[in-house]
Amino acid sequence: MTSADELVRAALEARKASYSPYSLYAVGAALRTADGRVFTGCNVENASYGLSVCAERTAILTAVAAGAREIVAIAVATETSPPAAPCGLCRQMLAEFASDMPIVLVNERGERRETSLAQLLPMGFRAKDLLERK
Ligand code: THU
Repeated sequence: MTSADELVRAALEARKASYSPYSLYAVGAALRTADGRVFTGCNVENASYGLSVCAERTAILTAVAAGAREIVAIAVATETSPPAAPCGLCRQMLAEFASDMPIVLVNERGERRETSLAQLLPMGFRAKDLLERK
């Protein structure tokens, strides 16, 4: 099993824990950090809809809370065909803890799309932009 396969499997598994009674759209995410650990997340919705948290951000927050701050790859599992890509907010959150990295999008039918953070977030706003003020 490749390291991408491992993330795909973990994202599909994490999706099963999705709490999405409002959208009925379950999402799972699994990311690898530079130290080799894998962290997972699912979307967690709320009756106050705007409070809902995406699967990717759940995984990011879990990783950072465990002391891991460098993300090197992520897999995202949805039910969409072709597999859906992370929302803009999650792309920006990923960019805080990752330079360019592979992103694998999957669904339960086994379809896969491979992309990258640079492709999904060209010219993203980064910490360095705060430092390079005139
Ligand atoms: N969702 C994610 O978990 N990740 C994304 O990148 C896009 C959307 C969730 C949020 C909400 O719970 C449901 O999918 C429908 O928008």
